Amino acid sequence: MNPSSSLSRLARDRGGSPISDLMKRALDNPRLISLAAGFVDPASLPLDPTNRAVDALLGDPALGRRALQYGTTIGDPSLRARLVRRLEREEDALPGQFEHVVPRTVVTNGSQQLLYLVAEALIDPGDVVLVESPTYFVFMGLIEGRGARVIGVETDEGGLNLEALEETLRRLEAEGDLPRVKLIYTVSEHSNPTGISLAEGRRGPLVELANRWSKGHQIFVLEDAAYRGLSFSGREPSSVWRHDEEGRCVILARTFSKSFSPGLKTGFGVLPEALVGPVLSLKGDHDFGSNNFAQMVLDRALGDGGYDAQVARLREVYRDKCAVLLGALGEHLGGVEGVSWTVPRGGLYVWLTVPEWLDTGKAGPLFSRALEHEVLYVPGCYAFAEEPGPVPNNHARLCFGVPDEDQLREGARRLAGALASCGEQVA
Ligand SMILES: Cc1ncc(COP(=O)(O)O)c(C=O)c1O
Repeated sequence: MNPSSSLSRLARDRGGSPISDLMKRALDNPRLISLAAGFVDPASLPLDPTNRAVDALLGDPALGRRALQYGTTIGDPSLRARLVRRLEREEDALPGQFEHVVPRTVVTNGSQQLLYLVAEALIDPGDVVLVESPTYFVFMGLIEGRGARVIGVETDEGGLNLEALEETLRRLEAEGDLPRVKLIYTVSEHSNPTGISLAEGRRGPLVELANRWSKGHQIFVLEDAAYRGLSFSGREPSSVWRHDEEGRCVILARTFSKSFSPGLKTGFGVLPEALVGPVLSLKGDHDFGSNNFAQMVLDRALGDGGYDAQVARLREVYRDKCAVLLGALGEHLGGVEGVSWTVPRGGLYVWLTVPEWLDTGKAGPLFSRALEHEVLYVPGCYAFAEEPGPVPNNHARLCFGVPDEDQLREGARRLAGALASCGEQVA
């Protein structure tokens, strides 16, 4: 009997995550320097502010009992109100200006759950989702699981290229597929995988474009701002969401995983009115509410300044680590023909481009040479939609989150060694 014959179509189609195998390799060889995992800097995890918040919570029996009880599906009211007040400050709004979005603010188990819920609420098989080329590959996997037709749209140094987006929509309309377009997905801040942000001047026009193309139905923009807060300079433009004055187009997805602690696995979304009910009823099926304890810990850390101090520290840590990685890439790969990389202003990632003849994929020469040199990266091909194709295979995502500065220098040196050995192989 075939054991997989009982599985659902979804479970059979999904298979394993393309990078879970990469993570396992990293754990199997302790000498390997992993530039692959998109994890945060382990040495900076916020032990003290979390400790203070937990003490404050459990030191008060009434609060402590509330934290250890179930909460509500939409999330802790105090945390949600605080999040909206913070949004007002971040987005240069007046105090109280966003009060009306509190009922549309939903706390989730990381932003990943929100992405999943939005996909569940909007996507039927055959529906179209437009993503950046390249994009966050985990999101692409989950919408493919829902049967979406995923189409990549060109990006440049300012992120999503709006002319290319409009051209794609025009083509879909000509082919009669515009009614199937449900979502435009952008990782707006220091994107995973490129480190590039959506240019400030494109944010308002993106909302205008989505609304203009919403002919028979609303095309939503899903703004995944997972790396918001981690700009090295501290300056961040208004979000795309801020430009959606009517609150009907943009779904804002935020998380505390990167800016505080992934272990607390808490994120939130601000949803257009039309999606609040559907998302909450689906979330009810998932878990009937996110981890109440984590929400109340975060509420304390946000309230007592611990969170802000942590973010300020992380900006410096990542700014320094990024500079070390870029410096080492410059030292070992600078001037090598066909090799270039992005220069991010925040976040955790650098996107490497190698000559087109060199396949960075798992079955290609660079990946096996990199493993021999004991360094790991994420092959860039995972971050591209099949459509419009062909999928480029000469990129790699490098993450400077986990390795320390010495390991980043050594990782870049090993990667350059792997690359050089591929050149010798071809010569
Ligand atoms: C772009 C992006 N969005 C969302 C997530 C999900 O993170 P979490 O569920 O921990 O908030 C990640 C995690 O790496 C990410 O890189």
